[in-house]
Amino acid sequence: MAGFSNSKLTVVGAGHVGATTAQRLAELQLGREVVLLDIIEGMPKGKALDLWEAAPVIGYDTRLVGGTDYALADGSDLVIVTAGLARQPGMSRDDLLKKNAEIVQGVATEIRDRCPDAIVMVVSNPLDVMSYVTFQTTGFDRQRVIGMAGVLDTARFRSFIALELDVSVRDVTAFVLGGHGDSMVPLPRYSTIAGIPLPHLLSDERIEALVERTRMGGGEIVKLLGTGSAYYAPSAAVVEMAEGVLRDQNRVLPCAAWLQGEYGLSDVYVGVPVKLGAGGIKEIVEVDLTGEERKALHASAAHVKETMSKLNL
Ligand code: NAI
Ligand code: 2OP
Repeated sequence: MAGFSNSKLTVVGAGHVGATTAQRLAELQLGREVVLLDIIEGMPKGKALDLWEAAPVIGYDTRLVGGTDYALADGSDLVIVTAGLARQPGMSRDDLLKKNAEIVQGVATEIRDRCPDAIVMVVSNPLDVMSYVTFQTTGFDRQRVIGMAGVLDTARFRSFIALELDVSVRDVTAFVLGGHGDSMVPLPRYSTIAGIPLPHLLSDERIEALVERTRMGGGEIVKLLGTGSAYYAPSAAVVEMAEGVLRDQNRVLPCAAWLQGEYGLSDVYVGVPVKLGAGGIKEIVEVDLTGEERKALHASAAHVKETMSKLNL
């Protein structure tokens, strides 16, 4: 088991993503304490206790506590926001917009007041817009408010490439820009198998099929589950980001970040490669894009902005 991190971590929303995230944080000993918060009485306390009772078997010393009182989160170093409603079959991410904006605004106000030095990772959907709501409400600087989507989207793309080529997922890297969901922009020429660009090993047609499956990856799981949405891969994704920050790893990961001129975009949360370490986003990494890729990224950002404009923040 990796070394112990002495941070205090809070996960808001103790549903599928939140509880699985708390489990992964504890199993990696990424904090001295993980607080699980929800609005449902008993449930977060019960899940935290259940996770703590697993500690002797798995061998972690991370303490888990749960409840409905935000005082439990006081002074947290990192807060992961998963509160909200999940997509149901036939429901788009944007359908969730107004309801989740209200919820996330409430959560972000508590974070601002109780965890003024925290780094905040947002998972709630629609992701890019909920990151914006959190950024606006907390007033934290952009290094400290980060959205999770690109790590999940690239993980899906990588998993499909590995299946297609029958190779280890460890040798597959992938690159996805843009908003979470239908408007995301996978970049096959920056995706590799052991350094070999994907287009050298797969036809354009097959790449396009995998790109399309990635774009619809969230919906594919929603349909199969019948109720709720994905949580194993999403929790793994946000915990990879958390580990990058808590262990100051300088990971380069695709995350939703507030852009201020990078990639020719401003005042919008969009997925771009960032360097993650102590303090949050250390750098936004800019790469050359072809005209077509740039156009797709800007279209994706325009979609996010359009959704942002439906909220009067
Ligand atoms: P879930 O329904 O299992 O859990 C959500 C939890 O939030 C519930 O337990 C609910 O009681 C709680 N909640 C509602 N209002 C709250 C409030 N004001 N304060 C604290 N907790 C509150 O949903 P799940 O599957 O955990 O998904 C959570 C969110 O994450 C959804 O919005 C979902 O769409 C999103 N998501 C985003 C992904 C991404 O890639 N960014 C991937 C997967 C899910
Ligand atoms: C996903 O991509 C629902 O956004 C969530 O699985």
